Amino acid sequence: MKRSAKESPNIVLVGFMGTGKTSVGRRLATQLRMRYVDTDDIIERDSGRRISNIFEEDGEAAFRELESEAVLKVSKRHNSVISTGGGVVLKEANMIALKQNGVVFCLTATPEEIYRRVGHQTHRPLLQIPDPLAEIQSMLAERRPYYEEADYMVRTTGRSFSEIIAHIKRVFIKITRNPKWREPYA
Ligand code: S3P
Repeated sequence: MKRSAKESPNIVLVGFMGTGKTSVGRRLATQLRMRYVDTDDIIERDSGRRISNIFEEDGEAAFRELESEAVLKVSKRHNSVISTGGGVVLKEANMIALKQNGVVFCLTATPEEIYRRVGHQTHRPLLQIPDPLAEIQSMLAERRPYYEEADYMVRTTGRSFSEIIAHIKRVFIKITRNPKWREPYA
């Protein structure tokens, strides 16, 4: 079956903070000549505010509402690599929307690796606490069943960007060559 670029499916990247969704997503989009979009960027652009300010001023629940709106918007796209915020998996409706036109890959990493990558950064409100490593461990344990709702899990600890990208490309190309690729998500 031939599909035009307009109809072709999205690659959706979910996963905990610091698993590399943005870096992997941008590279994948360039290599596969797909458009790139990030739900966190859409939220910041549409609201004109930083995510940390939304959390601080309005709280996490308000942020999650904006996130769901952004998900609905990006889910209507085609031929795009969509990176998402780490908590997008927490609402089932988000995952249903993202799977409509997309294959969902969850990037994973060990808590220690995540801490090494993001522990020193200050723009993630959920990790601005005295013991971020313990928080990462407990959030990962709590969120594991939600991340496992992705179509494919992709390990990133100990792997280079090119290995991760080659893995995702291989799976994605296989799926999109199969004319029945939509069936599991219909
Ligand atoms: C969050 C992850 C962040 C951002 C917000 C909440 C989370 O995105 O959406 O700070 O709940 O895990 P990244 O995963 O891109 O850091």
